[in-house]
Amino acid sequence: MGSWQARRSCATSMKAKGGLRYRGYAVSDLAGKARFEEVAYLLLFGKLPTQSELQDFSRQFAEGCMLPGTVEAFLGVLPPAAHPMDILRTSVSLLGMADPDASDNSHDANVRKAIRLMAQIPLIISTAYRLANGKPLVEPQADLSFAENLLFLLTDRRDDPTTTAMAHVLDVSLTLYAEHEFNASTVSARVTASTMTDLHSAITSAIGTLKGPLHGGANEAVAEMFCEIEAAERAEQWVRELLAGKRRIMGFGHRVLKKGDSRSAVIQQHAESLGRICYDHRWYEIAATIDRVVQQEKGLYPNLDFYTAVAYLLMGIPRELYTPVFVCSRISGWCAHVIEQQDHNRLIRPRALYRGPAARDYVPLDRRS
Ligand code: CMC
Repeated sequence: MGSWQARRSCATSMKAKGGLRYRGYAVSDLAGKARFEEVAYLLLFGKLPTQSELQDFSRQFAEGCMLPGTVEAFLGVLPPAAHPMDILRTSVSLLGMADPDASDNSHDANVRKAIRLMAQIPLIISTAYRLANGKPLVEPQADLSFAENLLFLLTDRRDDPTTTAMAHVLDVSLTLYAEHEFNASTVSARVTASTMTDLHSAITSAIGTLKGPLHGGANEAVAEMFCEIEAAERAEQWVRELLAGKRRIMGFGHRVLKKGDSRSAVIQQHAESLGRICYDHRWYEIAATIDRVVQQEKGLYPNLDFYTAVAYLLMGIPRELYTPVFVCSRISGWCAHVIEQQDHNRLIRPRALYRGPAARDYVPLDRRS
């Protein structure tokens, strides 16, 4: 590991044949075949788990599924308009102080903290949302998978065939969202981790970075756009007006994937079939119309956030929770990066190319004109 530019992550490769890979496995192959828990294990430990390793991992999840009193107290006194991403960012920072391994930044402690965070984050999102909306609190269920539990915590849904189909698509989306090389939030996490501070500080940085609409906040912004359009017949004119006004269409474009994102095709297919299962084609039709026009007019392709918003609308997940759901998944990639960074650390300290005024002498205040 030398300079920042040359630094490599062992978690993802993007140039490999077949698109994005996690530790060698094609993401398109993992999505839908492996459960999200297996993918999280792969990212953290570098290999897919055996049956007994997965059981042990799930047991550690279940044990970590509780919030310390300080976080519960914080969730009880939130300003009513607080955004769930702000709540999550501050809660994770609080969790860092209450973590049993707070003063231990060793590899093993970081892995324990990562697993606890993966268990606690869905609970924070659900508790804050339920308190803010006067809904009864619910506990994660031991007999449900990670995706099934997340859907249950956020929507109360479980145990019917439509919910099973929704949980499967949610599971796919969690796998697709889990990790993506040096995206902005992961870079934030790694820069923070490279000072050899604690894992919770690095994740707090990452959550603040993911929140922005040019990054993870895009999935919520896409859903807002669909809801504003309301009907497929209005979509074409609506998007053409936006383009004529030189406005950005949320859910399109990518800094790296200029020829399209293979993950988007995977979630598009699942969003379309979920629409059929739910007898609700409206969101998919709006999305497909916008997709056609933006590709035609701008040559821009949908990114992962675009059709994910269709799937989450069909699941009935509240819109302001879409980016927090992204966190439930990307936490696995962030933690893998933080652990990798601290296991082979060198401080990340880029240089700037200065373009300001040339050197000049200080002029005392009373002599300045
Ligand atoms: N809608 C309309 N025009 C766009 C868009 C868009 N979504 N994206 C890029 N452009 C145009 C932009 O206006 C600019 O045009 P011009 O040269 O005429 O000024 C040109 O493309 C280059 O823009 P840029 O910002 O320099 O391009 P970039 O590749 O660095 O931008 C991006 C990447 C993701 C910030 C941008 O595509 C964008 O703002 N997309 C919408 C927000 C979004 O969906 N974000 C999620 C990103 S992917 C998942 C993730 O990271 O979380």
